Amino acid sequence: MNIAKKAYCRGFQFCFKVAIPLLPYRIPKTRESISLLPAMLRRRGVDCVLIVTDKGIVKAGLLDILTKVLDSDIIRYAVYDETIPNPTIDNVEAARALYIESHAQAIIALGGGSAMDCAKACGARIVQPWMSVKQMGGILKVFKKLPCLIAIPTTAGTGSETTLAAVITDAKTHHKVPINSFPLIPRYAILDYRLTTGLPKHITSTTGMDALTHAVEAYIGGSTTKDTRENAIKATRLIHQYLYRAYQDGTDAEARQNMLHAAYYAGAAFSKSYVGYVHAVAHSLGGQYGTPHGLANAVLLPIVLREYGVFAHAKLAQMAREAGVIGAGKSDEETANLFIDWIEEMNDKMGIPRKLSGIEEADIEKMAEHADAEANPLYPVPVLMDKEELKKFYHLVKE
Ligand SMILES: NC(=O)c1ccc[n+]([C@@H]2O[C@H](COP(=O)([O-])OP(=O)(O)OC[C@H]3O[C@@H](n4cnc5c(N)ncnc54)[C@H](O)[C@@H]3O)[C@@H](O)[C@H]2O)c1
Ligand SMILES: [Fe+2]
Repeated sequence: MNIAKKAYCRGFQFCFKVAIPLLPYRIPKTRESISLLPAMLRRRGVDCVLIVTDKGIVKAGLLDILTKVLDSDIIRYAVYDETIPNPTIDNVEAARALYIESHAQAIIALGGGSAMDCAKACGARIVQPWMSVKQMGGILKVFKKLPCLIAIPTTAGTGSETTLAAVITDAKTHHKVPINSFPLIPRYAILDYRLTTGLPKHITSTTGMDALTHAVEAYIGGSTTKDTRENAIKATRLIHQYLYRAYQDGTDAEARQNMLHAAYYAGAAFSKSYVGYVHAVAHSLGGQYGTPHGLANAVLLPIVLREYGVFAHAKLAQMAREAGVIGAGKSDEETANLFIDWIEEMNDKMGIPRKLSGIEEADIEKMAEHADAEANPLYPVPVLMDKEELKKFYHLVKE
């Protein structure tokens, strides 16, 4: 990246860092049991909700669990279950139409990041109907309060239940539109491990590595605060202790509940302190090929960290020591490299590949352009890279 663009990016990031204390960050209220839902809704005078979910959740029997709870207090609901992984603008519009048609007064997102993001963007479109999803892309474009939004994550990964972000794909251009606005932060997050015990192994592993990516990218960036550093460390410590346990035995209640907390802490960290090039490149792959978000992040994370080299060693080493992943007594360089080795070992142990299939040479130009547009100037990464430099990551992960 040339010096002028670098100066522009760092100046931009500095302004946002200085503004952090002035911005209306909040966190959702958390509960640990879905059975509390009817009382929460009744307190707000809600007797009809829109449930945004997907077919996988329905098939896993999780929608039935939720509707039984709502039926027990005669709360009416309409169900939008057509959300696809990497949700599209069409998903958002269809969910919004159902909200209006059913006269719902609140939205419940039941699922992983896809269902939660679809629900968030749906809420944004309901209160700002004059703006398209694409126009909401970027930062601070949604400013009106959303209908009450309750997020019930069924994966322990994205942290969408606590973040100000929603990522929606434009199916026509294959571009993922990141919407970052405060009203998107849900009112409540219900972290109930019982909804995650049936999560298949490959989704447990990849979504868990997504959470780790949030913690790491937030921590090594230049816009951390005391609380985002603490949240990133707490998340990493829990992932180190519990992700492999949850992967090995999906019914391990302690591991599942702690992974939900890890994802939540990591989400809270990056919601304020941003992600980095791992996410920008992963989003471009998700938009182009539908590559699962967690998988793309898991494969890219060690590669991008090694590429940052010496510029990330001190922070990576500090994180590895504080989270208890690597013991004390080694140099920063050695500790950082051992931390990246551990990330690779986790991927290997959980059957996550080192490369991604299906990347076409002809698509790299466009994907790198999207990654560049998403990350620069916003993400306070340790080493700035422009479109040409970002292209190397597609070549490094291409099978
Ligand atoms: N808003 C944010 O802050 C944020 C952050 C990171 C990623 N994202 C977005 O989140 C999306 C990815 O979300 P994800 O990784 O959670 O996956 P996902 O929501 O796409 O779910 C993946 C699959 O797992 C299934 N599934 C989910 N929970 C299940 C369960 N308990 N049992 C059985 N099957 C289950 C789903 O049906 C789906 O088929 C991407 O679109 C990504 O861009 C958003
Ligand atoms: Fe992510």
